[in-house]
Amino acid sequence: MKILLLGNGGREHALAWKLSQSPHCSQLFIAPGNAGTAKCGENVYVNINDFDAIREFCIKESIEMVVVGPEEPLVKGIADYFKADPALQSIAVIGPSKEGAQLEGSKSYAKAFMKRHNIPTAAYQEFDISNYEEGIKYIQQHALPIVLKADGLAAGKGVIICNNHIEAFAEFELMIQQSKFGDAGKKVVVEEFLDGIELSVFALTDGEHHVVLPSAKDYKRANDGDKGPNTGGMGAVSPVPFADEAFMKKVNERIIIPTVAGLKKDNIDYKGFVFIGVIKVGEEPIVIEYNCRLGDPETEVVIPRLKNDLLGLFLATANGKLSEVKVEEDLRVACTVMAVSGGYPGDYAKGFEIEGLQNAENEHSIVFHAGTKAYQDIVMTNGGRVLCVTSYGNSIHEAVERSRQVLEKIYFEDMYYRQDIGYEFI
Ligand code: AMP
Ligand code: GLY
Repeated sequence: MKILLLGNGGREHALAWKLSQSPHCSQLFIAPGNAGTAKCGENVYVNINDFDAIREFCIKESIEMVVVGPEEPLVKGIADYFKADPALQSIAVIGPSKEGAQLEGSKSYAKAFMKRHNIPTAAYQEFDISNYEEGIKYIQQHALPIVLKADGLAAGKGVIICNNHIEAFAEFELMIQQSKFGDAGKKVVVEEFLDGIELSVFALTDGEHHVVLPSAKDYKRANDGDKGPNTGGMGAVSPVPFADEAFMKKVNERIIIPTVAGLKKDNIDYKGFVFIGVIKVGEEPIVIEYNCRLGDPETEVVIPRLKNDLLGLFLATANGKLSEVKVEEDLRVACTVMAVSGGYPGDYAKGFEIEGLQNAENEHSIVFHAGTKAYQDIVMTNGGRVLCVTSYGNSIHEAVERSRQVLEKIYFEDMYYRQDIGYEFI
């Protein structure tokens, strides 16, 4: 089977690594990919948001399946584009329709979905310019901290947790009156702050049935001790120790099953991943957010722990046969530690040579590339998150230690990584 995978992050390297191991995968293209994905298949320079260019490539190469890594093409409707075109209809797309991708593309849409289907989430109200004054009153009377969320996609920056009312008024005004996040912030969801510990839950659905993948916990803050600014993710562990059988049973019954049933009830075409950001408040799971894709860097621990043939899972998804599949997890722990460019998530330089990659991997550890680019035999930095090292272990401590040992062999200028991934479980 000939596959086109869209994206260029660590998530896509992990997906490419796994897909390339499938006996059903005859050829794998990655657009645009990175220096790591180039080792699993062929990188091609097609813009992932240029659907006409993707169409042309798929026809030329007789692609049979398109796997969409990031949210943007999904929110822009790539699945609908394929469905509407007779020349593309037979190509399986792993990723939801534009409507389904609204679970990530619009916080307001996601909140209404959860309300409609009785899925536990934080209490909220939404505001825009038409009820701005009402919003000010709502914030004034609201307990602290208070959470403000830009409705649309805001590159992970659209959620602001305010510890006092003055800050909340200022942010509210900036979003609605000053278009701080452009159109994405013209509508704002104001919600209750939930105090608890977070985990990332991944389901794969064919629109009718679903399977649950291994759970993961992501470390979003830039510095040790969960300090510093929010990033795309500095590391992850899987499984999550507090997500035991009893807790995951609640997640499945109260959140995953109603979500998949809700999609069906609402007639939403959804063949792909549902990433549910869950917070454990006391013993209860509550949804913080939905995404219409896998997480990054969660994928770099979830996929290595998946024993199934990933392409087999995707084929079952495309054919509505996920009820026939059972997910098998590697019992080992996996952790990943992300090495980033100095300055990330703020300004950083690119184009530094990465040294020490040749003999970095071993039986316990895999190096997944994110922001990297190859020039002949030289691999250069090409982004904020540069690469991550995933290791297996019998404990989180052992896995993290193994990743750290591998990272000590790798060098690029101003390379930085957190030392304490998984700290609360060690
Ligand atoms: P999101 O962009 O929705 O993933 O939100 C980013 C982060 O903000 C989440 O991962 C949480 O850490 C935090 N967050 C979002 N909503 C809430 C909430 N209601 N209570 C507490 N933290 C939240
Ligand atoms: N690691 C969080 C995300 O992918 O959104």
